[in-house]
Amino acid sequence: MSSFYPTLPSGTRSVAVLADIHGNIRALNAVLDDIVRRKIDAVVCNGDLITSSAHSVEVVQRIRQLGIPCTRGNHERYLQELADPADEKWGQANWAPTHHDFRMLNTDDRQWLTELPDTLWLCDGHAPLVMAHAAPGNDVARVTAQNTEEDWLSLFADLPDGVTLVGSHLHWYWRSQWRGNLFVRTPSVGLPLDGDKRAGYLILRRRENSWWAEQQRVGYDLAGELAAFRLSDYYRAGGVIAHLFWEELRTARWWIIPFFSHLRQTSAEIALSPGVTGFDAETLQTAWQTFDHAQFPDYCPDAPGNHR
Ligand SMILES: [Fe+2]
Repeated sequence: MSSFYPTLPSGTRSVAVLADIHGNIRALNAVLDDIVRRKIDAVVCNGDLITSSAHSVEVVQRIRQLGIPCTRGNHERYLQELADPADEKWGQANWAPTHHDFRMLNTDDRQWLTELPDTLWLCDGHAPLVMAHAAPGNDVARVTAQNTEEDWLSLFADLPDGVTLVGSHLHWYWRSQWRGNLFVRTPSVGLPLDGDKRAGYLILRRRENSWWAEQQRVGYDLAGELAAFRLSDYYRAGGVIAHLFWEELRTARWWIIPFFSHLRQTSAEIALSPGVTGFDAETLQTAWQTFDHAQFPDYCPDAPGNHR
């Protein structure tokens, strides 16, 4: 675990958890205004500040100016990997949006993002509270209603009894009790994928020796964000994948996952190579021309059959 010391003062009674802002500055600003209005004691951020919408630089600068403690998400880890000029993602068109963010962020912001801790211990004592982007030590873990007993055991193995663990990553609010521990998955500030287009964040309130969680949704200028996204250099540089992010923002539904399912069906060679995750621009463009989003059912991470 990256942090063994409580990040928040011991008297903290309410915490707002922002996560998966994904470069959406209008959603972030609306959520911050809502937090001030509700007089929440503390604000933290659970990773994936960047990529997907077009304003990663502005989001990072706002979060840093406010001194909000953050964990590192998988999208910040990708920046660290791209620091190696030989990283294979530089030659793969499906990483074009991340290439663009890497170039636009200054060296100092990039270093700050890549050095963020994997896990933050927010409060200890009688109401321990821990936060990691997906799960401690794994920034892409899918913690869902399909978790097995073994999954839960490994998730809480290194944590104290009675802990509240906050995860994010799937852009879909969900909570579950397991043997006196509470797992809460945050909604997404900047790229909701649960069908509700409003920005989402989590409010935790201290109740004696535990935390009570609820999601909060905030309307914001989505039309303005979509219009600015469409006119941005990020959109132009990001190709098919940037357009899929734009569609996800527009609809609050998953487009990337069904697109890659479709892409893998477009060529026998690709279908037979499930380990291949990098594609050239022509392959993406060809798959996009025959992609029909309506043919794919809405993806819910907690639905049976979606556990991997
Ligand atoms: Fe995310």
